[in-house]
Amino acid sequence: MPTLKIDGKEITVKPGMSVLQAAKKLGIEIPHYCYHPALSIAGSCRMCLVEIEGHRKLETACSTMAADGMVVHTDTPAVQKARKDVLEFLLINHPLDCPVCDKAGECYLQDYDYTYGTAHSRFRKEDKRVRPTKELGGNIHYVTNRCIMCTRCVRFYKDVVGDEYLFVENRGYKSEISVFPGKELHTKMDGNITEICPVGALLDKDFIYQARVWHLDHTKSVCPGCSAGCNVDLQTQNNKIYRTRSRQNMEVNEFWICDDGRYLFHKYEDLTRVESPLKRAGDKLNVTSWDEALSIVHDRLALIKKSDGAKFIGAVGSVFASNEENYLLKKIVKDEIGSTNLFVYAPVPEGEDLSFKSGFTIYADKSPNRKGAELIFGKLNTDFWKAIEKGDIKALYVLNADVDFKLTDAQKKSLKKLEFLAVQDFYMSDIAKLAHVVLPGTYFAEKTGTFTNHSGRVQRFSKALQSPGQSKEDWAILVELGKRFNPDWKMASASDVMNDLAENEKAFKGLSYFKLGDQGIQIA
Ligand code: SF4
Ligand code: SF4
Ligand code: FES
Repeated sequence: MPTLKIDGKEITVKPGMSVLQAAKKLGIEIPHYCYHPALSIAGSCRMCLVEIEGHRKLETACSTMAADGMVVHTDTPAVQKARKDVLEFLLINHPLDCPVCDKAGECYLQDYDYTYGTAHSRFRKEDKRVRPTKELGGNIHYVTNRCIMCTRCVRFYKDVVGDEYLFVENRGYKSEISVFPGKELHTKMDGNITEICPVGALLDKDFIYQARVWHLDHTKSVCPGCSAGCNVDLQTQNNKIYRTRSRQNMEVNEFWICDDGRYLFHKYEDLTRVESPLKRAGDKLNVTSWDEALSIVHDRLALIKKSDGAKFIGAVGSVFASNEENYLLKKIVKDEIGSTNLFVYAPVPEGEDLSFKSGFTIYADKSPNRKGAELIFGKLNTDFWKAIEKGDIKALYVLNADVDFKLTDAQKKSLKKLEFLAVQDFYMSDIAKLAHVVLPGTYFAEKTGTFTNHSGRVQRFSKALQSPGQSKEDWAILVELGKRFNPDWKMASASDVMNDLAENEKAFKGLSYFKLGDQGIQIA
């Protein structure tokens, strides 16, 4: 294994590692544009030039492999001058757009020029090159004048997607990025190029002119769009999600998310939320207090248990609910009520998984927590309809969190046979409309919890938004209900629930939020 020295610090690296990667391991920043850890090396921007003892000229750190005995300097006068020259060259034709550019605040041209560039331009009178902007397809808007020709976007399609969509049209001064004739961007992965473009040349039309990036708050979360469990960063301002960006996790999604996940937050914006607990009076659902709603649920279930027996009480967990929520539901129904009638809402996946060249996969299973539900409930029993039809269940508590949940007329008729139906949900779903009591929950961005992805990795998601009205995090609703059955319940946070779950469910043994960190732990 080669051992080299960078800025006086010694490091031994794996063979095949570049000088730039070795420096990064040492915490030494070498500025770069065309290099991206997930893409093939282009070595074209020249921003990463370094001095290597014994070499007659400066070398590009991204394409020079670390070698034994190498002595590298990243901050000599020659390197500083080279960086200034590269930046001056890039800025000759770059518009002074920063005040109106969406990339401002997270732009590497801005940042590097500030850190490594010159404060002055020698081009004062010459006109800048001006070219029209282009629509590349989908949500991707290309601001030609801002492009620095790093070709990250071109290589993204070649290396990650596996199908070439973009290319460099024309040569030299006239170069620009174009879509191959007859093609348009529509790969479900396109949004990623707006993240890897180091400047404001590729913009997401969904975010354009919406917010300044330095005003956005960041919350580490997990995409609930399918069972992949991609790590995401929810970016919010004034209690509104402005955009979802990928969060690096080399074990799960590397650097990417798909466009289904990227724009998923809009799906929740259109739903009619349940903002207060509701209780039925004839055909109507009227607003009530949390205290009364929980008392009704507790008292009705206790009464049915007394008159008919616990087995006439059933509950439906969900592959869309968190591990904590499903666990609490099971704890209430099995341990406190004494019924084994535990069902799970788990729609059968439709279609096929969609895999790309890099291995990134969008799963056909659109639920984020099927694996977790299987580990908590065992083999998923989805057929609560039969039990209702046969009269084996008189009261049902339903935990649902699927925006696509729809009931057929026959299913609606079945549910009307129940003596009591309680639904915990965040929107007025088909099933909530039929409930005797509706307990207003929250969707993933408004609560804390964990999902277990398709491969058995437990990952945390955190609350990014305040939920509307009186709605509450679902784990909190279930804890309140649990306390009505057993005042000894002491859990006061989602983290407490995880600790209880880790104590009582074999598969989750020893887990805690602290141990899960922000990259999760593989348990199955
Ligand atoms: S559009 Fe962005 S990513 Fe693509 S070549 Fe230009 S600067 Fe690089
Ligand atoms: S692949 Fe699945 S989990 Fe990942 S971003 Fe897309 S929908 Fe979300
Ligand atoms: S990052 Fe090395 S040449 Fe571009």
